[in-house]
Amino acid sequence: MLMEACILGKTLMIIGAGVEQVPAYEAAKRRGITVVGTDMNADAPGLALADHTLLVSTRDACATEQKALEFHRTHSIHGVMTIANDVPYTVARVAHAMGLPSITLDAAKCVTDKLLMKQRFSSHGVGCPWFADIESADQVREYVTGNIGKDFVLKPVDGRGARGVLLINDTVDPEWAFAEAKRWGDCGRLILEEFIPGMQLSTESFILDGTCYTPAIAERNYSRIQQFRPNIIEDGGTIPAPLDDSTKKAIDDVVLRGAAALGITAGIVKGDIVIDHAGRPLIIELAARLSGGWFATHQIPAASGVSLVEAVISYSLGEEVTPSQLIPQYHRATAIRYWFPPQGTIKRIAGEEKLKEIEGLLAYGFFRKEGDVQPEIRMHPDRFGYVMVTGETRGEVLTRVDQALNSVQVEVAP
Ligand SMILES: Nc1ncnc2c1ncn2[C@@H]1O[C@H](COP(=O)(O)OP(=O)(O)OP(=O)(O)O)[C@@H](O)[C@H]1O
Ligand SMILES: [Mg+2]
Repeated sequence: MLMEACILGKTLMIIGAGVEQVPAYEAAKRRGITVVGTDMNADAPGLALADHTLLVSTRDACATEQKALEFHRTHSIHGVMTIANDVPYTVARVAHAMGLPSITLDAAKCVTDKLLMKQRFSSHGVGCPWFADIESADQVREYVTGNIGKDFVLKPVDGRGARGVLLINDTVDPEWAFAEAKRWGDCGRLILEEFIPGMQLSTESFILDGTCYTPAIAERNYSRIQQFRPNIIEDGGTIPAPLDDSTKKAIDDVVLRGAAALGITAGIVKGDIVIDHAGRPLIIELAARLSGGWFATHQIPAASGVSLVEAVISYSLGEEVTPSQLIPQYHRATAIRYWFPPQGTIKRIAGEEKLKEIEGLLAYGFFRKEGDVQPEIRMHPDRFGYVMVTGETRGEVLTRVDQALNSVQVEVAP
């Protein structure tokens, strides 16, 4: 009651209004918060839920800051946030212009530059894969031919959605890999990393008073890594990840230290973590925002009862966030998987009715419809659709998600 009285009368700006941002708009509206939505697309679904709309690209930090300041002159904004959108710099610029809760602008730069981030990790002794700054195809050739049989990852420093993330070794043409990775980044700079073949994890933590709270960890499913090589394509994830308590503690520790190395001491931190051969968690990447892929909005709440979306809304508005909001209320299981039809024109999508009957079905979505072209899979947006299930145990959700995948057939004409 008290919290609602505080929140009423407050205005929250949400950067981006696409389909994955909608749950944040819904949550804020449920709490009686006035919402200002931004997007360059006037038809973005979140904007239909917003009280006010600013039409501006989420990637244009400068223009967003200008528009926000203009709005702020007649209508105070009390908080700014995003979800599932890699625009921490835009969020930080708006927040700093208005003196709102935020990470520093330096931290926002680090989390959008994989090289800068890794340099900070290594200078602070935070575990991460070996890496090198890459400026030419010759450098790639030197590293891979000097380490025959060893796998590396070449990627743009400012990529997202696995665009241009390539798993390479001495059998891959370095000229091709260099040009391919380069074409997907905005700034053109590349990073080469040692490929760590261990268990891949998705974490989402909230740092509060020096403690890292991670309500649920997903084991990311890379069973298709050989199929799509040299592209690295994830096929969903499973909560709970099969981890012992000491590894979970080590993960909280590395996330906390990794965030601190970037100057982040409070708020949301999303981690891509890999466990190395010695059982140590290494950071592939940290993001200073709520995750995409329905992890923060669906999977974590279903598995633990914790809503990190609610926590971030409160935190962005300068409201108190308490440990009890971040500690799991229960331990259930979820799984998400994707469909990967062959390339071609989609003739028929069959089995949706059967899919709806799957026990524990949490949500599903198809990114394409009949008549659309299914592209070759080279990045995450190329996947056809997703399905998420819940259950009591890992075993149960793995069975259910397989049934769900098998219930749908996507017929494609090459
Ligand atoms: N050095 C590495 N060792 C093992 N796996 C890696 C490594 N680098 C990247 N990967 C895998 O490839 C994925 C995509 O890489 P990365 O996160 O750097 O790119 P991205 O474009 O930001 O992708 P996303 O938006 O999915 O996070 C990682 O989440 C991880 O699963
Ligand atoms: Mg990433």
